[in-house]
Amino acid sequence: MLSWAYVNLKPGVGKTTCAVFTCAALADRGWRPLLADCDPAASALRWSDLAGGFRWPVVGLAVTDVYRRIGDVLPAGVNAVVYDVPQIEDHARIARGVLRAAGCWVAPVAPSGIEVDRMSRVADEWEDVQSLRVTRADAVVLLNRTNRSEATRTGPDAEVRQALTARGYHVLATQVQHSDTLYRQAFGCPPIAAGTAYESLVGELVTRQEAGALA
Ligand SMILES: Nc1ncnc2c1ncn2[C@@H]1O[C@H](COP(=O)(O)OP(=O)(O)OP(=O)(O)O)[C@@H](O)[C@H]1O
Ligand SMILES: [Mg+2]
Repeated sequence: MLSWAYVNLKPGVGKTTCAVFTCAALADRGWRPLLADCDPAASALRWSDLAGGFRWPVVGLAVTDVYRRIGDVLPAGVNAVVYDVPQIEDHARIARGVLRAAGCWVAPVAPSGIEVDRMSRVADEWEDVQSLRVTRADAVVLLNRTNRSEATRTGPDAEVRQALTARGYHVLATQVQHSDTLYRQAFGCPPIAAGTAYESLVGELVTRQEAGALA
């Protein structure tokens, strides 16, 4: 079972948007994802309600022992789980429980210095949870709301990519550009991943997890 958890210290970094679009891109590739909404704010559930349901199941799982319960709520045929994790700063116990369950942790980070700075608190949390696991989780950073759709050699996206890499984070090659039309306005509508960065993101994430990569 492949699984990813979108997680960060702060709210508003794009966790729910990433989780929903990742499911859409997985479904487009023939995967059968489950979206586990572990945030008490339940925005992924709300999004699916407004959209008249998604093409994949969504469950609310805002509990502290997700790692114990996920097996009980998996619909038959599901072969990938995407977790929308609440912000660690307010819901650390729930977040830790999800991190124990997921094979790969993905931190969406905007290309700004303050976000790079905050990653050290996420990394502290990651290390604590790694020690509770039988096998180490993969842990990666996704640049979200970048200026450009592709990685550049100079400019703010490149600077943040370099700063994070220098601090030892694995920054995914795929980055998600800032787009109000593609992403901000998608809330409440059926998400369309085709033609967006989420197609290549899912390719990268699946390849990495199938290869058993560790950051
Ligand atoms: N690449 C993007 N370009 C433009 N807007 C984006 C992008 N990604 C996310 N957003 C927007 O940013 C806002 C926050 O995103 P989202 O709700 O996914 O974050 P979150 O981390 O789940 O927040 P919360 O912690 O409040 O649940 C939303 O309005 C969303 O539409
Ligand atoms: Mg959210």
